[in-house]
Amino acid sequence: MTLTPQQLATTASEDGRATALANPNIALVKYWGKRDEALILPWTGSLSLTLDAAPTTTTVRLTDAADDVVLLGGRALEGTARSRVTRFIDLVRALADRDERVTVDSHNEIPTGAGLASSASGFAALALAASTAFGLDLDRRALSRLARRGSGSASRSIFDGIAVWHAGYDDESSFAEAVPARGLDLGMVLTVLDARAKSVSSRDGMRRTVDTSPYYPAWVERTPVELEEMLAAIARADFTAVGTIAERNAMRMHATMLGAEPPVRYWGPASVELLDLVANLRGDGLECYATMDAGPNVKILCRADAVDELATRILEAQPDIGVIPARAGRGARLITSEPGGSAGEQTTEGAR
Ligand code: PMV
Repeated sequence: MTLTPQQLATTASEDGRATALANPNIALVKYWGKRDEALILPWTGSLSLTLDAAPTTTTVRLTDAADDVVLLGGRALEGTARSRVTRFIDLVRALADRDERVTVDSHNEIPTGAGLASSASGFAALALAASTAFGLDLDRRALSRLARRGSGSASRSIFDGIAVWHAGYDDESSFAEAVPARGLDLGMVLTVLDARAKSVSSRDGMRRTVDTSPYYPAWVERTPVELEEMLAAIARADFTAVGTIAERNAMRMHATMLGAEPPVRYWGPASVELLDLVANLRGDGLECYATMDAGPNVKILCRADAVDELATRILEAQPDIGVIPARAGRGARLITSEPGGSAGEQTTEGAR
């Protein structure tokens, strides 16, 4: 049975329960640094590719219980990990003007907190599932603004393929939207060098960089220029320019962090080996570009039809690492399946 989006939203909100799926996104022009920590307003705009791999599936159910329950991978979260979710649910309760408690049941297909964008897929899925369970019918922009309050990068996982997050100047004006990318079929291979959670959260790493790095003002000045260059490269479907700008932007983000006191360094020797491998593969004619986030795992951008060859070549050179091949994927959507289960995904969009 296939429900229409309206039927699906009604069904989900009538029984106070909704399940959403969202994919991670990897930034090609990075977000690094908050102007407003409470509202999660960034200093600069950013742009990313939503992938078709490694999703988060989240069910939110309204309950009569005295308190919220937050499960990740079947285990109850406690402390700051739990309160990050319950504070987000408080925002949804305020939007809906309701006060029921919830059970949140979330499953990640990728390691959590290892710079593999699990917070982007996690808060995008939570925004859609929670808002639907509370009977809200948010459009994509409102959903993006809501997801942003959980994790800035989550604002972009609401959308298919390439999305730009406009920095904005207040809660209303800071949202992501889709960027048309006709003629540009992007792929990416994520490497898993270290699946452990990072020791410095992106929140703390950003704060330290903004507060102490003398290079941060240059980042704030340059990033809007690079974002414009990236949008122009996408508009003319110029893969070489997209890759070149993305790799350079990632290196510049890490350069601002290295200037912090004490330095914020997410990469290790294995990451550097991968950066060398990418340069060698490119020299051999396999056009690919490296990018890295708040963790040691290198992500490698290529043309969609080169993903399999790239994954093979990486594993030939580094047989002991994990690889996740991916292409451009869909934004957050409602599904009928249970987290971790295999039952039917809706083919219709569950959010406008
Ligand atoms: O949204 P957060 O707090 O997980 O920050 C993400 C920061 C980077 O992944 C390093 C860059 C980005 O734009 O996604």
